[in-house]
Amino acid sequence: MHLIWDEAQRYFLSKLEGNSHVYKDLLLRHLKLVVNWGLIILKKHLEADKEITLTSIYLHDVGRLAIPKHEDHAVASEVMAREFLASQGYPPDKIERIAHCVRSHRCNDVQPETIEAKILAVADSASHLTDYAYLHLIHSGEKQYILEKLERDYRDIGLLPDIKKQLEPLYLAWEQLLKVFPDWKLEDIGDIV
Ligand SMILES: [Fe+2]
Ligand SMILES: [Fe+2]
Repeated sequence: MHLIWDEAQRYFLSKLEGNSHVYKDLLLRHLKLVVNWGLIILKKHLEADKEITLTSIYLHDVGRLAIPKHEDHAVASEVMAREFLASQGYPPDKIERIAHCVRSHRCNDVQPETIEAKILAVADSASHLTDYAYLHLIHSGEKQYILEKLERDYRDIGLLPDIKKQLEPLYLAWEQLLKVFPDWKLEDIGDIV
């Protein structure tokens, strides 16, 4: 039996292959962490549908590989997810459920309304707290942006109060660390001679 989330994973990896996206390696690492967080949260929220949640996770950032950074990849990911799922002969009602998860994962103009959409949004944000993404970006001279991103991530994790409580110490540690971190750009420091 073919599991749709395995097919979605293969689809994501096929889009990653040969792509020269600047954050390609980071994106693959990010996806692994989001999947891991998704599985952790699913164990606590048995009311959620595993198939909808995991398939949404594998598809949520696929649009990032197809569009410029300034465009909203949640929109592009939804379009690609719909096309991919339809090509698999996936049931239309389930396509709608996954499309909502993917479209709302940034908690931007569309908010997560279903438990599966909330799990994706929380897993997505939680993954940043357990990776080096903040530090990677702060070295690019984006300190203010990163501090705001940390706040947005923690706000979105609040969609599931139990997970927010679990992650509060980690959030507070990041907040302290990032606030005292030097405000510099690694490339401006100069070469080692
Ligand atoms: Fe995303
Ligand atoms: Fe993501």
